[in-house]
Amino acid sequence: MPATATKAEIERAAAILRAGGLVGFPTETVYGLGADASNPAAVARIFAAKGRPQDHPLIVHVAGMELLPLWAGEIPPAAHKLAAAFWPGPLTLILKRADGVPDCVTGGQDTVGLRIPGHPVALEMLKAFAGEARGRRHSGVAAPSANKFGRISPTTAEHVRAELGAAVDAVLDGGDCDVGIESTIVDLSRARAVLLRPGQITPAQIAAVLGAEVGPPDAAAPRAPGALESHYAPRTPLHLVPAAELTARLAALRGRKLAVLARAEAPSGLKDIYWQAAPRAVAGYAHELYASLRRLDDLDCDVILVEAPPAVPGWEGVNDRLRRASSD
Ligand code: TXA
Ligand code: MG
Repeated sequence: MPATATKAEIERAAAILRAGGLVGFPTETVYGLGADASNPAAVARIFAAKGRPQDHPLIVHVAGMELLPLWAGEIPPAAHKLAAAFWPGPLTLILKRADGVPDCVTGGQDTVGLRIPGHPVALEMLKAFAGEARGRRHSGVAAPSANKFGRISPTTAEHVRAELGAAVDAVLDGGDCDVGIESTIVDLSRARAVLLRPGQITPAQIAAVLGAEVGPPDAAAPRAPGALESHYAPRTPLHLVPAAELTARLAALRGRKLAVLARAEAPSGLKDIYWQAAPRAVAGYAHELYASLRRLDDLDCDVILVEAPPAVPGWEGVNDRLRRASSD
């Protein structure tokens, strides 16, 4: 993950954000599409660039804990515990919002998503952005993943340029993203902690810090509309196939143009099948997942078959994204 953006580029990006522009920037999870979270006109440009529904709330990225009270109306002890354990890092906390947080950021809900990202370029940009300028206080950058709505999140600066082109005013290059899938989202706005989106930080790790289980969303949990069933998806139909059934499925699809993403080795003697080997361990698998899906999608195959990874603790985030990418 070589951080290639220069100090001058980062300062220019911060100036663009202060002026109401859009910046693509690296985080340790995926690239974000950032705008000044306190400027509704700037935030509106995010929705336009992504083609994203207006009621989908955005995560506000801040440089440090001291900025949290500007966005969160209530910071419960559980938030301090999780922040101490995992920030800066791939965790988003949903907290009761502070007065004055724009509706366009919260999707009109009474909560706000907050995160201190772990990528050095993101942190430098957020620090350069924060402060007073021309009578306006800047403290948080609203940023969804820098992809068109419903599509695969970008994990390189090149993906952002390919996906959004002239719709962004600048893209900071921070190399390929370490984690590779979006942050774990935990709702702490009510009495019981709830996992809204799995990620690299696992339910077990969160429970260990909180000393209590983190539950699945119930009917009263805040909506996380980005957690839609069909999301993170390539254009090519993608099917998740249990490892033991892969060979039979390939045989059944003989004659079609096929791409495969599998932890298993390619069987010998395969013809006309593009086989993408995936790392066996979850960290490597997640790190490469979206770039692999983009590569396979670009081959214009009839079908992408993905060997289903194990459904075991630690793989929740990867399995969640694969399920949403699949057309089953
Ligand atoms: O890793 C990440 O989280 C990346 C990087 C750029 O930080 N961002 C990201 O943003 O994945 P996005 O917008 O693609 O996904 C954010 C998710 C959505 O599902 C959204 O509904 C949910 O967070 N969310 C944001 N604010 C929320 C809130 N107040 N209540 C419930 N869900 C919220
Ligand atoms: Mg997204």
